[in-house]
Formats: sequence, C-alpha cells, structure tokens
Amino acid sequence: MSAARLTGTKYGCGSGGCGACTVMLSRYDPHCSANACLLPVVSLHGAAVVTVEGIGSTKTKLHPVQERIAKAHGSQCGFCTPGMVMSMYTLLRNQPQPSLEDIREALTGNLCRCTGYRPIVDGFKTFCGVSECCQNGESGKNCCGGGPSTLCNAPAWSQVRTQEKTVQTLVLHLHFQLMLQKGGGGRLCFQGNRVKWFSPADLSDLLELRAAHPNAPLVVGNTNVGDPGFCRERVTDPTGTGALWAIAGVTFGSACSLSEVKEELQGAVGRLDPEESRVFQALLNTLRCLAGKQIRNMAVSRGPQRLKCSAFSVAVASYKLTHKLPFSPFAGGTREVPLNEKFFAGFGRTHLRADEVLLSLHIPRSQPWEFVSAFRQAQRREFAFSIVNAGMKVVFKEGTDTVQSLSIFYGGMGPTLLRVKRTCEGLVGMSWNEGLLEEACRLLAEEVALPPTAHGGKTEFRSILSLSFFFKFYMQVVQELREKVGRHKRKRSEPESYLLTILHPSHIQMVSEIQSSKDPVGRPRVHIAAFQQATGEAKYYDDLPAVSGELFVFMVTSTRAHAKIISMDFSEALRVPGAVTFLSARDVPGQNRRLWFNNTEELFAEEEVCCVGQIIGAVVAESREQAKRAAERVRVTYDDLSPVFFTIEEAIQHQSFFNPKRKLERGNVDEAFGKVDRILEGEMYMGGQEHFYMETQGLIAVPRGEDGEMDLYVATQHAAFTQEVVGHTLGVDSNKITCHVKRLGGGFGGKVMKIASLSAIAATAAYKTGRAVRCVLDRGDDMLITSGRHPFLGKYKVGFMNDGTILAADITYYSNGGSTLDESSFIMEKALLHMDNGYKIPNLRGHGLVCKTHLPSYTAFRGFGGPQGLTIIESNVDLPAHQVRAVNMYSEEESYTHHRQPFCPRDMVRCWDECLEKSDYSSRRLAVQHFNATNRWRKRGICAVPLKFGIGFSKGFYNQGAALVNIYKDGSVLVSHGGTEMGQGINTKAVQIASRILGVPMSSIHIKETCTGNVPNAAPSAASFGTDAVGMAVKDACEKLMKRLEPVMKAYPKWTWSQWIVEAYCQKISLSATGFFMGPHTSVDWEKSEGAAYYYFTFGACCSEVEIDCLTGDHKNIRTDIVMDVGKSLNPALDVGQVEGGFVQGLGLYTIEELQFSPDGALRTRGPNQYKIPALCDIPPQLNVHLLADSQNPNAIYSSKGIGEPPVFFGCTLFFAIKEAIAAARRESGLNGRFALSSPATVEKIRMACVDRFTEMVPCPEPGSFTPWAINV
Ligand SMILES: Cc1cc2nc3c(=O)[nH]c(=O)nc-3n(C[C@H](O)[C@H](O)[C@H](O)COP(=O)(O)OP(=O)(O)OC[C@H]3O[C@@H](n4cnc5c(N)ncnc54)[C@H](O)[C@@H]3O)c2cc1C
Ligand code: FES
Ligand code: FES
Repeated sequence: MSAARLTGTKYGCGSGGCGACTVMLSRYDPHCSANACLLPVVSLHGAAVVTVEGIGSTKTKLHPVQERIAKAHGSQCGFCTPGMVMSMYTLLRNQPQPSLEDIREALTGNLCRCTGYRPIVDGFKTFCGVSECCQNGESGKNCCGGGPSTLCNAPAWSQVRTQEKTVQTLVLHLHFQLMLQKGGGGRLCFQGNRVKWFSPADLSDLLELRAAHPNAPLVVGNTNVGDPGFCRERVTDPTGTGALWAIAGVTFGSACSLSEVKEELQGAVGRLDPEESRVFQALLNTLRCLAGKQIRNMAVSRGPQRLKCSAFSVAVASYKLTHKLPFSPFAGGTREVPLNEKFFAGFGRTHLRADEVLLSLHIPRSQPWEFVSAFRQAQRREFAFSIVNAGMKVVFKEGTDTVQSLSIFYGGMGPTLLRVKRTCEGLVGMSWNEGLLEEACRLLAEEVALPPTAHGGKTEFRSILSLSFFFKFYMQVVQELREKVGRHKRKRSEPESYLLTILHPSHIQMVSEIQSSKDPVGRPRVHIAAFQQATGEAKYYDDLPAVSGELFVFMVTSTRAHAKIISMDFSEALRVPGAVTFLSARDVPGQNRRLWFNNTEELFAEEEVCCVGQIIGAVVAESREQAKRAAERVRVTYDDLSPVFFTIEEAIQHQSFFNPKRKLERGNVDEAFGKVDRILEGEMYMGGQEHFYMETQGLIAVPRGEDGEMDLYVATQHAAFTQEVVGHTLGVDSNKITCHVKRLGGGFGGKVMKIASLSAIAATAAYKTGRAVRCVLDRGDDMLITSGRHPFLGKYKVGFMNDGTILAADITYYSNGGSTLDESSFIMEKALLHMDNGYKIPNLRGHGLVCKTHLPSYTAFRGFGGPQGLTIIESNVDLPAHQVRAVNMYSEEESYTHHRQPFCPRDMVRCWDECLEKSDYSSRRLAVQHFNATNRWRKRGICAVPLKFGIGFSKGFYNQGAALVNIYKDGSVLVSHGGTEMGQGINTKAVQIASRILGVPMSSIHIKETCTGNVPNAAPSAASFGTDAVGMAVKDACEKLMKRLEPVMKAYPKWTWSQWIVEAYCQKISLSATGFFMGPHTSVDWEKSEGAAYYYFTFGACCSEVEIDCLTGDHKNIRTDIVMDVGKSLNPALDVGQVEGGFVQGLGLYTIEELQFSPDGALRTRGPNQYKIPALCDIPPQLNVHLLADSQNPNAIYSSKGIGEPPVFFGCTLFFAIKEAIAAARRESGLNGRFALSSPATVEKIRMACVDRFTEMVPCPEPGSFTPWAINV
C-alpha cells in the first residue's frame, strides 16, 4: 500500500495483534474486516480492498464513522484510528442496525494505547441511535444542543447509510456477481522473486497441487503461516464451502471462517433446545474470546496446526467430531477422522499427510444425557491465546447420575493436545458427587502434572487451572442435573453486553457564562488533527514518501548478555541481494557515544556486550526486507564473560549499583520506631512495563550533500537532544542538523533517549552512503532494544499507632536499571520524591538504589518512577478508606512534603472527599462484604487512593519553553514550539491559547511541525510539563505581537484582523515573535534532604471495584471513579482523555502487562501476542471521570495543571482491590494474615494467592532446583 501512497493503513505489529492495519475486504459475500499485515497480495485476487482513504477524506467529505470518532475525542495520537474506523465501517456495511454488542465484537481486534477506549465507543455508539453529548457547548453549556454537524443526537446509521450506495459499490457488486456466475476460472500462478503461489481452480486441482508440491504450505487465512520466509512455494485454498445445517449437527466447509462458524453456531443455538445445543454454546463461549474480529474473519476453523491449542478445538475434540479428509483422488476417496489427541502430532503439527486436505468439520448436537463445557483462561479476557484450555464431556446412564463415559482434553498442558485417559476411565461408573470430585482431582493431579521446566513456564498455575476447570465443570453439571430433574428450562448464557453501561464522564468543567463564545480556552475543542487522523491523512515519519535513492538500515543486536566480541563476519550479509554496506563502531565519523548528563552510552558496542539486544552493528540495504535478511546473516563470535545476572536480588547480592545512591529523610525515623504500637516489615515488587506506543520507533535521515547538513524526520519527544547526539556522532555542529517532528504515534516517555541513538546510527549510515536512510524498528526489535519502565522492589518497615496513624516509615527502593544508566537515577529520585503521596508521615526515610544488571537499559515511562514510589507506601496504608483522611492525610493549609516543599493540600482533600462520595464508597464497601459472604468462588474488593503528584522537572533548567509565532499578510498564523505532539493535544492547546490572545479563530492558526531550526534547545515533552512550558511561551509570543499591533488596532478599531495585519505590514511592524517561558528553579539538595522539587502538585483520588474468579484467577473490573484536579482545564475533553488513557495504562501496569525474560536474559515477550496491553474488554463498564470544580493554580497557564502522568498511578486501585478480594478468598481457607502480592496482579498470581484445596494438590518445586522457563527481573 505504501507503493500506492495509501499510508492510512498503519503498521503496528505485523502479526495480527493490534488492528492498526485493518482494511475491509469484499467479495460477493458480506464484507469483512481483515489485518492487512497478514494478507498476502495474491490472496486478494478477485476481492476488493477498501482502505481508510476509500471511505472519506477532509478534501471531499468525511465518512460519518470518521467524523464521529474524531468529534467524540476518540483520536489522540491517531495511530490506531484508521484501524478503528475500518473495523466500525465494515460493521456498518454488514449490519445497518448494529447493537452495542456488535460494536464490542467489531473492536475486539483493535488496540489503542492512548484513549482508554471510552471516547471511541462513545463516538460509535451513536450509530445505534444512542444519543451522546458532544461536550462542545458554548457559553457555559455542556452540550451544543444538537445539529446536523455535531455528535449530539446524531442519526443512527440506518438513517444515514443511503450515502453508502455509491456507484463504486454497485459496480463492485455486479463484478462479484459476474465472477460468481463464471465460476472461479482456471488455476492461477503468481511468481514472485522468491516465492511461487498457486491458486487452484477447484478441489481436484488443489489435490493435484498438494501432491506435486508436498512441502508447500496451504495458505487460507494466513493468520498462522505468516511471513513466507524461504519456503518457495505455497498454495492458496479456494475450496470454501458454506456451513451445512444437518439434522445431526452442523457441518462446516473447511474454508468457513471462524466468524462464519460463530454465526452458524449462534443460529443453531437460537433454533435448538438448550439441551441439544450444549456443545454449540460451549464452542461459542470460547470463540467469543478467540483472537480479534479480523483474525476470526480470516482464519478458518481448520487451521489445524494452531487451533489444536485452542479451547475451541479441545471442545470439539472432546466431542469426538470428525474431519472428512478427501484423500488425493489418485490415492482414492475421503476418510473420516475423529479430531482427538491422535490427530495432533506435536506443536504445530498434525498427522495429516502432506497430500491431504481437510474438507469439512462436523459438530454433532448434544444428546439428552450428555453435558459438555469448554474453558479457557488467558492473560487478557479477550484477544489473547489461552494459557490453558479444556473441553469436557460427560455422558450419564439415562435417568441417573452414573457416569457412562467421560472425556477431558486439555490444551496448553504440553506440546500437543492432552487427553486425560486414565482419569476419565477411572471415573466411569461413579456417581456425580463429592466422592467423584475427590477421586477426579487426585487422578488429574497425577496425570496433568507438569515439570517445572516445561515450555511456557507458569507450570504450577497451569496444573492448578486444569484442576479448577474440572471443578467448574463438576459444579456446572451438578447444577444442570438438578435443573434436568426439576425440568427447569436452562437459561442460555448471554454475552456480557457491558458497553451498555459504559458511561460518559459525568462532569467536565464549563467555562464561565461571561467568557466570549469566540474564546476557545477552557472549551472541549476537538484535537486539531483528529479529522486527518481519522481519514488516514495524518502523516507519521514512516508515511513520508521515499526519498530518491533511499536505503534502509536494520540493526544487528547482541544475542549474549555479557560477552567479549571476538569477531563479526558480515561477508554473508553483504552477499544478500540489495545489501549495500555494514556499519559498526568504526564507521562512526565522530563519537560512538550518546552523552547524557555525563553518562555515556555506546551507540555500537565496540569490545564487549552487556545485554541481549544491545546494538553491535547495522546492515544497510536497498529495501527493508533485504536489510532484515542480511542482518540475520551477520555472524558474531563471542567469548562469554561473568558474572551475568539480571534480577534485582542478584544485583543486591553482587552489590551492583549505579551512582548516585540517593537518600531522603524527614524526622527521626529510628527513634520513632521505638514509640509505635506495631511495626510492619515486608517487601513489594513491581514489574516493568513496555511502552507499546502503537507507532514503533524510527526516522529518516536525509543528507543534504552540502556542508555536512542533515535533515532528520524523526519520532522523538526530545528533538534537541536527538540533534545534539547526531551532531556528536557525525562530528558536525548542531546548526547543520535539523530534526523535524510532525507527530508521534504515541511516546509515553519511550521516545526520549533511545531514539537519539537510533537517529545517530541512521545518520551514520546516511553519511557513509551519501543517501537517505530509513530506519523503522519491527515491533519485536523495538521491544527488545528500547526497553521500558523499571521494575522496582521496595523493602519497607512501617510503624503504626493503634488508630492507624503512620508514625514512621523506612523504605529502600531498588530499581532494575539494566546495563546502562540512561535516566534511571532521575527516575529513582522521582520515586523517592513521591514516597509520601498524600500522607503526612512525620518520620520518613527513603533510600534509592539503581541496580546495574545485564538487561537492556530501562528508561523513562509516563510517571517516571512516580507510580513505583507511590505504590509502595500505598501498600502500607492499613486502614479503610473512610478513616484515612482523618488519620494520615496532609491537612494543614500550609503543609510541607518530606522534602520540605510547601504546598496546600486543600484540593487533594476535596478530590478525596468527592471521590468517596461520588463512588458511593461506604455503601459499596458493605455490598462487597455482603457479596463475599455469600459467594465462595467469586470475591470482590474495593479500594480508594488519594494522589499528590509533582509537576515539572526537578532538574530546574529543563523548566523552560520556547515558541515562534508568525503572522502572514493574509492574517493566518503559524505557531511553532518546542514541544512534540504525541496525542496529548499540546498543539490543540497551543492553538487555543494563541486564538484567545490574538482573537482569531482556531481555524486561522496552524502548527506545521516541531523543528529544531525554528525553535532551538527545547526541553523534552515530558514530566507533564509540555503544555505549561509551551503554552506560556506561545502566550508570550502572541502578547508581544499584540503589543506591536495595538497602535494599529487603536487607530482603526472597526477594521478586521486581516486589515490590521496588512496595515501593520505596511507600517513595517514585525509580524514574527519568539516567546519564552522561564519556569521555576526547582532543585533538591540531596545532602540536606530538602528542596522545591516541583513547580506545583496535581491532585486526585480514585476508587475501583473488582471481582475475581478464585478458581481461574480471572478478574473483572467493575467500576472506577476518578476525581481529578486539573486546575482550570484548558481543554476538558483532552484532559479527560489524558486521565482515562493514563488510568488504562496503569490498569495494564498493575494487572495485565507482564514482561518475561529467559534465564539467559533474552526478552521472551516481543509482540502483542505475548505481551498484552489493555483492550476494550478490560475497561471498567463504569468509568466515571470528574474534573474537580473551582480549582485554581496560579503557577501555570490560565490556572490549568499538567495531567499527562499522574493518572497512571490510579491503576493501583485495581491492584489493591484485587488484593482485598484475594484476602477474602484466603479467609475462607482459614488464612487471615498478611500476604505478599507483586504487581502486576496477573491471572496466575491471583489464582496462586487464592490458596485452596486445589492449590494444595499441586506440589511446589524447590526454587533453585530447576531452570525456570522465565524469570522475574
Ligand atoms: C493475533 C492472533 C491471535 C490469535 N488468537 C488465537 C487464540 O486465542 N486461540 C487460538 O486457538 N488461536 C488463535 N490464533 C490462531 C488462529 O486461530 C489460527 O492462526 C487460525 O485458526 C489459522 O487459520 P488460517 O486460515 O489463517 O490458517 P493458515 O495460516 O492459512 O494455515 C494454518 C496451517 O493449516 C494448514 N491448513 C490450512 N487449511 C488446511 C486444510 N484445509 N487442510 C489441511 N491443512 C490446512 C496450512 O497449511 C497451515 O499449515 C490467533 C492468531 C493470531 C494471528
Ligand atoms: S499491524 Fe497488522 S495487526 Fe498490527
Ligand atoms: S489514539 Fe489510539 S493508539 Fe494513540
């Protein structure tokens, strides 16, 4: 598509895991959404592909889907937006009257890292006729009151869809009809450079091809085959047949997509008596969670190599379904095989012969005394591979509860499908009662035991899950048997249509009634690039057309954690067609170093490597595929060095720490411990987090061929630093290097440091070859090379009085910094500076040590150590929320933090009180207690936390901002500033500010890009300080201009803006001004433990309720209420977006996102299929965000407050609520004491902490007695 200049379809992962590349595929049948990254072009023969560009544009007309997502504030960085648009668009093409459940399903395969999903759903809900408020009201009104061009009272899709019947659609329809009449035509063959594709004419042709090319994979949905690699031949399958409804069950043609299977099964469930459709219901339940909608549209039910691992196939298998396999006609006929453990030969393999083709899949109806269920548990509730899945079926002797036969199959318990034969046989003839349960568990525990070294790790958890699944099955059957005897009709399980209750943020701030309706400040204006983002017109660095002669660079990274580089042989690499050159340290013309506050980091490792993933070289080639292939052929020999260690504990043992080691202390901690009533000691571990910005890191370096000039089009949050590093690397002054940043597809702190190194490497390649060089990291390499949020370990000792007052706390924080310092010491400082949160702890001491390990260097991530610092103290507040304020919170008007910075906590206390009130905390707490008392296997928890978060850089010199404002003769205004737009809306706010001061509409003001040539030496867009700095600078520049224009305006008061500008020009008044903001001189004296570290504090409070499934570890986020103090918001819609998006990122940090490393330090989680960020299914159905009213902040622009980072911490409410729920479950097992739970609270950790009879049946292997599959670092 890039060749066709259709850049709206984005690359986010290349593996079907994010949905950024969603397009609509149309054949004669209904349209379907599909992942472009998995679609081989040849598979599109005879199909129409509609990309986001095909449905609307800002030049012609926006499609309502594009318009509504934009107006609902559903686009922040915009990188996921075209994919979201295309998923919704496809739904509307198929379903003119979509339900909320349809929307939920349509979006299951689309991830967004910025918004928190709520506004996206809000925009799309309008198509169901659900009225939404645009929140774009004027003159003190929350809502614009409706109208044809707004979101309010927007017509349902059924009322507007007539627009869709375009001539193009009709032509396509006719074309497909003709194709259908003509039949498929003959065999097609596509010959590429490396691969040959056959598309057979019909089934017999397919069989012929299979016989002739037994090694060529059969590609259907290609969701499993993926990249062609070096297999030279492949066959695409045209044998799609629809589902056949038969008396005995449903037969699916083997090319039915999983979506079609699902639809058919849904139909069958609707038609049949629940008793007869048990198996269909079980399959439906698992199909709902299997992959995303796009994958289900493409993947076929018999993609057997993969599906063997799914609950879907397990449930099918347990039912002894058959596949009909036509033998090659030459061998003669078809055969029927049961889909059971004998069918699957091992991981990714079946016993199908190379010349065989699966023809159909038959699923019979359930019989009256048969009970069947399927179970799966995954890292995330939907759109995730299951960790363990199971299919179970029991047949009773008619009219009794005596087991006639039992089949149990597990997936995820070994390399292939596991049938627990011994257990099943052992239970035949028994009655379905407690005795059977006991015996079943005993037998199962023996039969499913996994060795601790098993592939995939989590072995104890997986074994316990297999027992828990059986227990669930047992309970379900008991229930169903009761109903059967009682002749009750069984209620069908309906999917949770939780979108029904996704609520709008209840309260945003409104501007005062006297504010001019032309003044946009304080109004919820739509992100200024939202329409371009929704139409795919918004350009990111990789969307820029290729520069003539452009090359591509691909990194070669270390495969060893600590080793001496003996040699690098790149001769094979340079033999790959298209390879141009190999780069290493010796090609760097200037310094092979990135310098950061006296800390240096090598760009290319020269002699030694200190982590897996360290860049040691790079290959430059004509195309990205060639560069990648060539890089794979670079041979490096190493001599391993010791010691090698990765974890915080190991670093403590080796006393391996970076300098400086920090300490903060208030009061006399040791003395206070002597006075307290009780002391708690313990530790808490918080895992790291991957940024997973949707746009991976990269840039284009363009040498200008004169005087060493180089332009870089780069995704950086810190253009000035990138410029500086590139200059040092090339040995060229900064004035020759220009960095251009149009926008970022998300940054979250991850595009400050590493991107400078990548830029320097790409610039070196451009320097060496004299040609433009593009660098785009693959998702896997991005995750490996650039790393993310630091794992932290907090060891604490906290002293309380009997009323809960914390009198003393002594905390030592250890962070895993990885192999180089990067920003780790500043991050540790921020953790220490936040260790008091909102609590006045008179005696408080914190030590901070950054561990040096052999992992890729950890770096900045939204919150910058704040969440880790806050979480440890929060884990020690041992009081119910309603007592916290009275006992521990700061309350004096003039309070002092533990680093002696004065502040007023009034608004924090207001947030807290409002949060408890709005969330109805007290009565819900009682309801939770009641729920827990009446449910054994489900438990709930509720938790509230306050927040005090420092805004600005504690390194004072960074607190500055600069801008340049130009007015052109036609009256239009161009604003340039030093911040970078990465979705947070900094450009929108800058334009709002300029519009207020200049008095011109926002539409007359433009921001083109961030450019080091326009605004030099800018600070990074970070520390929640971007808008504060840039906003003030823009204001300053605009005020200067207004001052210059004042005489003209006074002289001609009736003239228009354009007339004034022309007159000013004629009077030779400069229409260009720079603006500057000199921010506060923050600093901390670490020796004295004091200093004003921050400009001011943003406050808030959050309350969340969750429910856990004690048997599987699954959890459901029920409701979250947030009250946030953003001062007087510049743009409440953008601020609410930051709050929701930050909270959802915190949700991932504290509950889902888990990075795994192999014991030799290699990152195992290198894509969305292994690493799960929150999806739509994870959002609490009730997510209420309230912006605190009547709040002031004299320090920042127009009394607003920075908001980017603080809400991440609120994710911890889910963690602590889960912990409370686990505590309730443990009490049922007689365990009343405190227990440790590390973050994130994954399904595994929840299940393991809910100790019960099943957990006790699985032996815990002795730590150190085996090599685990993955380690916690
Ligand atoms: C992002 C993502 C998420 C996923 N999540 C899940 C999940 O949660 N649970 C789960 O179980 N799976 C999951 N999958 C796997 C998915 O279900 C399989 O990839 C899919 O079923 C394969 O179908 P396909 O048509 O794409 O097969 P292809 O990729 O085209 O082929 C798969 C294999 O089957 C062979 N094959 C295909 N058709 C036939 C036939 N008729 N006869 C003989 N051999 C044949 C092919 O030669 C190939 O070896 C996921 C995949 C992705 C990309
Ligand atoms: S890029 Fe295709 S799904 Fe992520
Ligand atoms: S707006 Fe969705 S990823 Fe940025």
